[in-house]
Amino acid sequence: MCGIVGYSGKSDAVSPVLEGLSRLEYRGYDSAGISMNIDGKLCIFKKEGKLDNLKNFLKEKSELSSTIGIGHTRWATHGKVNDTNAHPHGNEDFSIVHNGIIENANVLREELKQKGYQFKSETDSETFLVKLSDEFKQSKDIEQAIIDTFKSIEGNSAFVVIAKNSHKIYSIKRSAPLVCGVNEESGDVYVSSDPYALIGFTTKIYFPGDSVLCIADHRKANNHYSFLDLNRNETKDYTIQQKQMSLNTVSKGKYEHFMLKEIFEQPELVNKLFSIYSEDITSLNEMTKSRPEMVHIIACGTALHAGLVIKDFLERKNRIRVNSDFASEFRYKEPLICKKDVGLFISQSGETADTLACQELCVAQDLKTYSIVNVEGSTLYRSCDYNLLLHAGAEIGVASTKAFTQMALVGYILSNAYLDEPKDLKSEFELLSQAITLILNREEEIKKIARDIYNYKGFIFTGRREQYPIALEGALKLKEIAYVHAEGYAAGELKHGPIALFDESMVNIAIVTKDLYEKTLSNAQEVKARKGVMVILGEGEDSELSEISDFYFGIDYLGLTDLKPLVTNVVLQLLSYHIAKFKGTDIDKPRNLAKSVTVE
Ligand code: G6P
Repeated sequence: MCGIVGYSGKSDAVSPVLEGLSRLEYRGYDSAGISMNIDGKLCIFKKEGKLDNLKNFLKEKSELSSTIGIGHTRWATHGKVNDTNAHPHGNEDFSIVHNGIIENANVLREELKQKGYQFKSETDSETFLVKLSDEFKQSKDIEQAIIDTFKSIEGNSAFVVIAKNSHKIYSIKRSAPLVCGVNEESGDVYVSSDPYALIGFTTKIYFPGDSVLCIADHRKANNHYSFLDLNRNETKDYTIQQKQMSLNTVSKGKYEHFMLKEIFEQPELVNKLFSIYSEDITSLNEMTKSRPEMVHIIACGTALHAGLVIKDFLERKNRIRVNSDFASEFRYKEPLICKKDVGLFISQSGETADTLACQELCVAQDLKTYSIVNVEGSTLYRSCDYNLLLHAGAEIGVASTKAFTQMALVGYILSNAYLDEPKDLKSEFELLSQAITLILNREEEIKKIARDIYNYKGFIFTGRREQYPIALEGALKLKEIAYVHAEGYAAGELKHGPIALFDESMVNIAIVTKDLYEKTLSNAQEVKARKGVMVILGEGEDSELSEISDFYFGIDYLGLTDLKPLVTNVVLQLLSYHIAKFKGTDIDKPRNLAKSVTVE
């Protein structure tokens, strides 16, 4: 959702702030802005639309420079998309940027209006600014004013503030992403909503806890940060990350899109994951010490689809009962939970608001909470009892690909650890990596299918049992990046409704493996009989399937069993990618979507 970047140091702020904002473009946004302190005056420049609009505008004002600046990319929640509603919001004393929702904004606005204040924008964020000015008028103390304002607002948010007579950057958050960085050589300080924006700039990153006022001061000799609790006592409620992501992460390399780069990273990541988890099983041992009554797998989007793959592992291989649900549903259901259950939260970002709320709900009911998460230090990571990291590196494409594979694999490792006698997974991981490579080597074949089908009206993806989550994920990928109607169904369910949709304008992408072969084959035949266009993903050469297919793609699973769905999924990732490319959509930044959904 909204992206935040701030800088204070010895150099010009515009370049790191704009570079950081560019890196956050993938999160989705509709306008962007920057505020700088120029000769003691806070100046704000903001533009609706792409970041390039702001960049071009600033080019014309190249004489402007400042050593302190905060920038923002907005994903509108309150108020139309226009220059006025874009962030930063400011007045003579303060400039602020905000990510999240202020739930009591209307009440606060009315109170402040009564006091004679006027508002320029329709945003909830501006109430923080006006309230801050009101508090400051009374106390003349910036830190106290920020704390008092923060205490008065409800909802999950992160705020970054700069003030007229200060070279410091102030930031504070509640259940929203925020990181504070420092370059220990230059002493320059940075804040952001995403560590990805700071790669290459900082050598050390702090992940503050909730309600911690972070004060960044590049003029201090050593400790460039102070962290205060709401009583203004120093607090150690933060974690430090010293190892940085590599700069390679921020480039697409030889690939046209991040999504394609990330799809192609998968074979290597699979091998890497195995070596990491074969060396360090401390968390796994702790997590699997006792068998839970039930595991509640809670996540959103692609992460939930990976959760469904994991559900199948835990149920079939471990005979552990599993409840899986959308985080946005689970939290409002008064879920049936007992103390011997475990909450397993899956998230790439570790910042998805609904997932975080469910984790809190489980903690409130005394459950142990585990995460499968990519971003170390994220809110989810900090909140759970145990975490299993994906080690996938930054995922930039909005459509999640490599994170899905790593999530499911981490779940497989967890399921294996629950066994009385865990297996050695080395050869399975090696085979998976090879099987994915074989698929990637056939990209041209998949592209040809995409070229022939991309103009059809709709797509129904089908699979059974362990391949059913892949049908769901395949359809989600296509919707996200190609903007076509696509649905995932359990193949046996077609007869109960969706088959009515089939005619010569509708495509069935059917996963038909040797498991439940006869049944799935007859589902495909039923669609063919109704003139549906058949794309069948089968196993190896198969004359029967080839005959009823308009397009047949035989997969070599190299003898894999449990991990087959992860191979099928890579075919569908490439298929969606190429369909989207033929359609000419913005693949890495699809319309209306945000990589990390930090509002409920
Ligand atoms: C958004 C993204 C999806 C992602 C989902 C969950 O909708 O566009 O790609 O699967 O959020 O995100 P998380 O970071 O929790 O995995």
